[in-house]
Formats: sequence, structure tokens, C-alpha cells
Amino acid sequence: MQTWELRYIETCTPEYAEAKELRFDALYGELGLPRELVEDTDGWTYEHLVALVDGHIVGYARLHLDGGASRIFQVTVALDWRRRGVASSLMNELIDLARSHGRTQVELDARAHVVGMYEGLGFVVDGQEFLSPRTNTPHFPMKLTLF
Ligand SMILES: CC(C)(COP(=O)(O)OP(=O)(O)OC[C@H]1O[C@@H](n2cnc3c(N)ncnc32)[C@H](O)[C@@H]1OP(=O)(O)O)[C@@H](O)C(=O)NCCC(=O)NCCS
Repeated sequence: MQTWELRYIETCTPEYAEAKELRFDALYGELGLPRELVEDTDGWTYEHLVALVDGHIVGYARLHLDGGASRIFQVTVALDWRRRGVASSLMNELIDLARSHGRTQVELDARAHVVGMYEGLGFVVDGQEFLSPRTNTPHFPMKLTLF
């Protein structure tokens, strides 16, 4: 069975540009949302993780580690690589990274229809459903306590 490699990447690299295309397609383009939403405008620093198959990016997720917080964002997998465990492997790697930096909790905002995926990884819903200001889609705040 073909599998994938996980690799941390830097911004300003061809890999980051390819990951940006994937992020646009999976998170915004599929919903008919405008391209500018994929631009990085928050000024935060992230650990950027990709899943690669034959040198091409099939998955992406990022972890914000500043201060005491750790938050995962932008979990995306290419259409023809879904339901094979790519997102779960990206998540588990970033959770391990947060743990290795001494963080005791990982937070994220989950699209309502994928709450079950994060629950499968140990996250619990931690608040009321809300509409994302970026995509206007229903989300739930979720958290994972690390031991
Ligand atoms: C959501 C997404 C990241 C999942 O990626 P993936 O690699 O297919 O996920 P995995 O294969 O690791 O799935 C693990 C489990 O999560 C659950 N799951 C995954 N995708 C799901 C979906 N779309 N709806 C409901 N449950 C889902 C399933 O239980 C799955 O296990 P199973 O395949 O054995 O049933 C991918 O579908 C995607 O990129 N979607 C568009 C972008 C998006 O919505 N990202 C999430 C933002 S919060």
C-alpha cells in the first residue's frame, strides 16, 4: 500500500506554495469562497507540517506554539487522499510536538461535520457552536488535554 512522509516545511519555499494551493482548494475553493481567505494575515508563527507522496503535498496542518497556548489550524487533505488516515497522522504528529514543548492542552475550531474525526483523536467539544467569521460555516471549539 502506498503511504506518505510527514515533513516540517518553512514559508517562502516551493513546498509552502504548493501547500497553499491545497489549503485554498480544500478549505475555501470547495465552498466557492474567495482566494484572499488563504492569505496569511494574522502575523502569528506556526509549525507547518505536510504529508508528501512522490514529492507532492497531499496533506497540511499547522500548529501555533507561541506563549502558553497551542492551537492547530488548517487541517487539509487532497480529495483523492481522504479517508486513508492522512489527517490523523498530521494531527498526531502536531499533538506530539505540542507535548514535546511542554504544552498541556491543544485547541482547535472544528468544522461541525468533522467533529467526529477530532473526537476520535481524543478532543472534546469545549463550547457552543459558532459561525466562522472567515467561512460563515458552523464550527465547534474543541480541546485535547495532554498528560
Ligand atoms: C476533514 C479532512 C481533513 C479529513 O482528512 P482525512 O485524511 O480524510 O481524515 P482521516 O482519514 O484521518 O479520517 C480519520 C477519521 O475521521 C473521520 N472523518 C474523516 N473525514 C470525515 C468527514 N469528512 N466527515 C466525517 N467524518 C470524517 C472518520 O471517522 C475517519 O475514519 P474512517 O475513515 O476510518 O471512517 C479532509 O476531509 C479535508 O481536507 N476536508 C476539507 C477541509 C476540512 O474540512 N478540514 C477540516 C477543518 S476543521
